[in-house]
Amino acid sequence: MEAPAPMNITLSNGAVIPVEMHKVRIVQRTSLPPVRRRLEAIGAAGYNTFLLRTKDIFLDMLTDSGTNAMSDNQLAAMMVSDDAYAGSESFYKLADAVKEVLGFDYAIPVHQGRAAEHLLAKVFVKPGDVVLMNYHFTTTKAHMELAGASVLELYGDATLQTASTVPFKGNIDVAKLRACIDKYGASKIPFVRMEATTNLVGGQPFSIKNLKEVRALAAQHGIPLVFDGSLISENAYFVKRREPEYANASITDIIREMMSQVDLFYLSGRKSTSVRGGLMATNSKEYYDRILAWLPVYEGFATYGGMSTKEVEAMAVGLREMTDENVAGASPDLIQYLVNRLEKSGVPVVTPPGGLAGHVDAKRFLPHIPQKEYPAGALAAAIYVASGVRSMERGTISCDRDQNGNETYADLELARLAVPRRVYTMSQMEYVVDRVAWLHGHRDLVKGLRFVEEPKVLRFFFGKLEALGGWDRDLAAAFEKDFGTGC
Ligand SMILES: Cc1ncc(COP(=O)(O)O)c(C=O)c1O
Repeated sequence: MEAPAPMNITLSNGAVIPVEMHKVRIVQRTSLPPVRRRLEAIGAAGYNTFLLRTKDIFLDMLTDSGTNAMSDNQLAAMMVSDDAYAGSESFYKLADAVKEVLGFDYAIPVHQGRAAEHLLAKVFVKPGDVVLMNYHFTTTKAHMELAGASVLELYGDATLQTASTVPFKGNIDVAKLRACIDKYGASKIPFVRMEATTNLVGGQPFSIKNLKEVRALAAQHGIPLVFDGSLISENAYFVKRREPEYANASITDIIREMMSQVDLFYLSGRKSTSVRGGLMATNSKEYYDRILAWLPVYEGFATYGGMSTKEVEAMAVGLREMTDENVAGASPDLIQYLVNRLEKSGVPVVTPPGGLAGHVDAKRFLPHIPQKEYPAGALAAAIYVASGVRSMERGTISCDRDQNGNETYADLELARLAVPRRVYTMSQMEYVVDRVAWLHGHRDLVKGLRFVEEPKVLRFFFGKLEALGGWDRDLAAAFEKDFGTGC
């Protein structure tokens, strides 16, 4: 049973809706291209939604990364940034916010989250190492493997069950962690990484109880705990709502409690802090010195680390603002609404709803498409044709082939409908629900995909595919039959 959320208001007819606790002051125009144009655009993009142009997109639900709405205070802070190469006052504001919100003495700005992962790999990982995680993220895995390590995921039984009521599917299975430490030995394990709301399995959070157990075991063996806090405030929000011990704690207190367990923190600032940048932070002078030595080589000087000083200023504000429950809960509440409405419409979704996105389960949506024909990629392309909404494939296309060129089949095949913070409205979510439900009713028309251009590393970004048998044309024809040649 989840604790109530303050912005989920009960109407007099009993319906509960997520009421926005902000006013919209700046807007960006969007338009809905007709289905024929959508058909042309997805073909030109090689059925890869990353390769669509935004002028062809109605609602951009590819990602919440760098697409959240910034606050008035963040925009104002950008205007007073101190554009110095070295010693910028903007950095000192960020360092103060890091100390105040996260409790760390040392802050290292980097240009985005994967830059932090690159430095982590450079400084801590050697060939033959085994990096342990609750679940991998695409860029994290790529950096660890490029450094010669392998990645092991230690999730529990519920994590891969898409229809579930387990509140913390992002937990590490502590028995598996113990077994791994016994098997590989601490000297081969540079760190254990906990990702705050595990992106690839549906934005699922972990509990503080689990974090503490993992930290205690790792520390017993001298293994550092690395915390990927890209969605730290959302994970804290789920702790407040789902971990009874923290029901009355503030987001600030929950974040501090989580941070008390962490040896090295990093984040993609593009998410919880709503800017474009990244950050590493620690209380270890030794770690700080080892990372700092490489910072000017790959990122920039210590006081900007590859970020614009405007974004450094905005990150300082964003770090403080994310501790407001209404800010931390803005996306999770709208995601919950979206997921519940999709589920009620018969669409198979990942439950419980997580952070960052509503996730549609492509294995259940398109059971007739085998994994070798990329059901999640096909579903993302089909959602675009049916709605002009851009989602992202998070399945086998997002896993690169192994060293022998064989497919690495993903545990889950998901089409992710990201809900950037404070960007979309309930009526837009209703539109998404309607069109995805329509597509579900016409799912037999959707067939698989085949690569025609396949990059070796992170192929999901630039790879191009074709629709087997030209199914997209049949889908567009069915759409026109029901909705006419308009939208
Ligand atoms: C959990 C997680 N870690 C790391 C990254 C990489 O961050 P960036 O995209 O800023 O390089 C992301 C990006 O989405 C992420 O979700």
